[in-house]
Amino acid sequence: MTDLSATIGVTDRPSGTGAARHLVSERPALERISDFLARQTPATPCLVLDLATVRDRYAGLRSALPDARIHYAVKANPEPQVVEELAALGASFDVASPGEIDLCLARGASPESISYGNTIKKRSDIARAHDRGVRLFVTDSEPDLDNIAAAAPGARVFCRIAVDNKGSRTPFGRKFGCPPETAVRLLHRARQLGLEPYGVSFHIGSQQLDPGAWEHGIAAAHEVFEGLAGYGITMRMVNLGGGLPAAYTQPVPPLREYATRIEEALDRYFGSDRPELLIEPGRHLVGDAGVLRGEVVLATPETGSERRWVYLDIGRYNGLAETEGEAITYRLRTSRDGDPTGPVVLAGPTCDGDDVLYESTGYELPMTLRAGDWVDLLSAGAYTASYSSVGFNGFAPLPTYCLDGDERTERS
Ligand SMILES: Cc1ncc(COP(=O)(O)O)c(C=O)c1O
Repeated sequence: MTDLSATIGVTDRPSGTGAARHLVSERPALERISDFLARQTPATPCLVLDLATVRDRYAGLRSALPDARIHYAVKANPEPQVVEELAALGASFDVASPGEIDLCLARGASPESISYGNTIKKRSDIARAHDRGVRLFVTDSEPDLDNIAAAAPGARVFCRIAVDNKGSRTPFGRKFGCPPETAVRLLHRARQLGLEPYGVSFHIGSQQLDPGAWEHGIAAAHEVFEGLAGYGITMRMVNLGGGLPAAYTQPVPPLREYATRIEEALDRYFGSDRPELLIEPGRHLVGDAGVLRGEVVLATPETGSERRWVYLDIGRYNGLAETEGEAITYRLRTSRDGDPTGPVVLAGPTCDGDDVLYESTGYELPMTLRAGDWVDLLSAGAYTASYSSVGFNGFAPLPTYCLDGDERTERS
């Protein structure tokens, strides 16, 4: 399963902004990160994030969907330098809490560029967001809508509808979103409550491998637009959510295929009445920008019926939450690459029986791996550092180093 020759899938080139900090070398991102790791030998585990890759991904999406407003989903990686870079490029932000709002505002975002995209929020959090100037809120239930009306009077609201997440490696289940007919009722009520019913959102499931998956969401959004037109209410915006992929072990279709299928569905359902578009990428902007370096703590030999186990200093609770169910399968490289490989079970360092990363995916790693060797997880920039914010079992949250061009600029 390992892909030893893998690069992290970026086309490296100067970004052409003219600003010195935006000029990067011609070397691929993986090489820049590897050089940094070799020169600095930071303590493991740690995440190294290449900011040039983030800029490159943003530019790619900008040109693939030129009329969509890009709201970076901060939860994917709330590293302050990432937020600052994206704000400087003109990005908007999808946030889940007042803490994320404060982060964005402190790093150069304007309140108008922020949407509060969490359907689950306290009235006091809505009030804090409103105080800070945020005027765009998601909802999917009556109590939440009532809270928005009370704490953010006159705000714009969009309603999240539930859509099929087939094709996603990490589907959302039933926690978020409502049926289109409920969305019509809620948005109609929003107007009665003095709010501005603004649009419809959906999330097709993260790491969505089917570029055609957005069609159901766009069709359902159109149904909501029609339902509200029946009350004389004109909806303006369709929020396409996240779902665009990063490069793990499975091949992913190119971005242009996603953009083409989205455009086709918009033409089919909305024709010349095209709504304003918003998109909330998280994983796609930061996933391939990061390499997570861990170290082997113990390697046990294969004995008779016992499989070989390799325990790393990185696991489910200090960065690798998305290995649950082996949903996200990172590409790996090790300091022993080139040696003969064999099957392995990979596990994390904690005293928790669920802290096993890969048992059934079929990873093979060098048989010579032993304590102290490094193991890199490629394309690990999304949903790693952000999930490791609690020091479970005394293992520290994952530190992040950001590289700008060839230089390390900051450790958080
Ligand atoms: C509301 C919302 N928008 C966007 C995203 C980002 O999704 P992705 O990382 O798949 O782009 C998420 C992820 O959980 C989300 O909850």
